Amino acid sequence: MASPRHYRGAIAKALRAVTDALGKTPPDVAIILGSGLGGVADHLQQPTSLPYVKVPGFPKTTIPGHEGVVLRGKIAGRSVVIFRGRFHYYEGHSLSIVTLPIRLLGKWGVRNLVVSNAAGSLRNDIPPGSLLFLRDHLNLIGQNPLRGPNLDELGPRFVDMSHAYDAEFLQHAQTVTQSLQIPFITGVYAALPGPSYETPSEIKMLATLGADVVGMSTVPEVIAARHMGMRVLGISCITNWASGLSGQTKPITHEEVIHETMRMKETFSRFLTEWIAKFPE
Ligand code: HPA
Repeated sequence: MASPRHYRGAIAKALRAVTDALGKTPPDVAIILGSGLGGVADHLQQPTSLPYVKVPGFPKTTIPGHEGVVLRGKIAGRSVVIFRGRFHYYEGHSLSIVTLPIRLLGKWGVRNLVVSNAAGSLRNDIPPGSLLFLRDHLNLIGQNPLRGPNLDELGPRFVDMSHAYDAEFLQHAQTVTQSLQIPFITGVYAALPGPSYETPSEIKMLATLGADVVGMSTVPEVIAARHMGMRVLGISCITNWASGLSGQTKPITHEEVIHETMRMKETFSRFLTEWIAKFPE
C-alpha cells in the first residue's frame, strides 16, 4: 500500500475533483453500480457528471460494462451520486485503489451506500434473473482493505462486521419488493479474487461454507464503508448458475453476465428508484 500520508492525499485530491464538479453538499445516498447495471443512471433527474479520467488517482476502467463516470442528480427528490464502474482486485489494483471511491464518499460525508454486483447462484431455488439482497458475506479475496497503518480519522483499527448489511435497509428493501411484487431473497455473497470463474469443486466448497451466491467484488468496498460507519445495502443481480450446478448448461462468460444484467436492468432500476423514493428520513 502507498504510505498513509500519500493515501490521505490521494483521497483528498480525488474528493476535491468530485466536489468541485458535483457540489460540496454530500448526497443522501451513493450507489456503486456493478457490471452492466449502468442503466439506473438514466433515472437521474438534472444529472451532472464527471468522467473518472478527470478524477486524480482513479485508474482507467478496463472492463466492458464498467463505464467510468460519477453522476449526480435526483431520484424522487433525493440527492443521489452514482459511481458507474468500479475497480476490481482482479484488474491488478491494490485494495486501496479498489476502495478509493468509498473512502472519498465517506470523507465527503455520505452515510448511506448501495453496492450492487452481478453474481452466480449456488442455489437451485435462486435462478438467474433474481435480485438477491446481501445478508452477509464471506471475504475469500485473501486480502483486507484495512490492512496496514490504520487511518484513524476514517475509523477504528478493528471493525465490527457482525452487521455489515444494515438491518433497517434490508427491512425497507423487503417492503419495497413486496409493493413491486418482486420476490424478496436474501443470501450470503462469497467474494473471490477472480478473474477465472470457479470450478465445480470450488462451488461445492463455497456452498459448504454457507455461500448462496458468488462474485468478484463488493466485499472490500463494504469493509471500507463499515470502517467509516456507513450504512450499506448490498444487491446481487443473479446472472448465471454457478459452475457445476445442474442448470449450468453452457460455459460462463462475461458476455452472458452482461447480457443477463441488461435484461434485469428494468427490475433493478424499478427497485432502486422505489427504495430511494420511500427511503425513511
Ligand atoms: N462467479 C464469479 N463471479 C461472477 C459470476 C460467477 O459465476 N457471475 C457473475 N460474476
